[in-house]
Amino acid sequence: MAMSIEIDPDYYDLGCDNYADTDFASETTSLASCVYRGVFENGRRYQTVREGASWCPSDEQQFESLEAAHLLCILLDANTENPLFHAPVKNPKQILDIGTGRGNWAIDVADMFPEATVRGVDLFPPPGDWLPPNCIMEVDDVLQHWTWRQPFDLIHMRQLIGAFTPEEWDALFSQCYNMSPDSSMVQFTEAVFRAGMEWNHPLDTLDTMRTAMEKAGFVDIHEKVYRWPVGPWAKDPTLKEAGRLHYHQWTAGMEGWGMYLLTKFGVPTPWTKEEVHVLLARVRKELQDPHIHMWQYARRVWGRKPTEEELKVKSEDVTGSGM
Ligand SMILES: C[S@@+](CC[C@H](N)C(=O)[O-])C[C@H]1O[C@@H](n2cnc3c(N)ncnc32)[C@H](O)[C@@H]1O
Repeated sequence: MAMSIEIDPDYYDLGCDNYADTDFASETTSLASCVYRGVFENGRRYQTVREGASWCPSDEQQFESLEAAHLLCILLDANTENPLFHAPVKNPKQILDIGTGRGNWAIDVADMFPEATVRGVDLFPPPGDWLPPNCIMEVDDVLQHWTWRQPFDLIHMRQLIGAFTPEEWDALFSQCYNMSPDSSMVQFTEAVFRAGMEWNHPLDTLDTMRTAMEKAGFVDIHEKVYRWPVGPWAKDPTLKEAGRLHYHQWTAGMEGWGMYLLTKFGVPTPWTKEEVHVLLARVRKELQDPHIHMWQYARRVWGRKPTEEELKVKSEDVTGSGM
């Protein structure tokens, strides 16, 4: 299973903060092509996300130069423990590359840390079709309010000379420094999980069902793990449709999931109905934000009862080993 889901650049319409009321099926229109096409001036291609946001062309010639610079940086640090970065982080899990350009650094770091999720963000989509499965490329303006909900263990910037005004640099470094997890969705799921524990109906069934089946005696057990996107932000058409359905599952289902557990078993004390509604309203807003690419793990586990023959062999083995 791929560790990440490729994002549809149509959902980077910076003028659109909410896709809840739109017709999901008719959304893929001019934005993606406009972002990909860029705008040409003096024979060079530039980004179109925000007029005047960058003086750096985003075209093949410039990408070639970025690739050479990437190799140059690695070459001159080749005798160090880690030529890609020197920040004192041993095992980063969430990594951000601001102004990723061609994405060389993000791709190499994703290869170096296959367990991590590496996000490269730029005003122009990077060229090339192939990415490591744990590398996500996003088209966005980093000077806008950040909508990433997870804090980053490592944030990288390189060759951003002249990219921002002094005030923008200050704001950007502050944003990097102050980033903290403030996701209402995380709050909601953590609260609901805690309530499930309080009631002794743990909600981690996804992680325990395989062992429970093994314990009961099922054999030939298999499993398939999925990433279900929430909302139509995935590029792949099947995942996009899955995201639409999952979005509806969430919006229709979340009050039901939260209300009973939180009003009866909320930790440290049961919540009021109003408190649940306030949090749900915030979660709903996040679900509708096209800049947030939420997904959920799902797991399918299946097996079968052993045949009479298999049971006989097993009991003979047990008897044999007992002698
Ligand atoms: C010289 S390139 C550096 C590429 C890359 N960091 C590297 O070292 O290979 C600068 C990049 O910053 C991007 N950039 C400039 N302003 C940006 C902004 N506000 N948000 C996101 N990316 C931006 C440009 O589009 C350009 O690709």
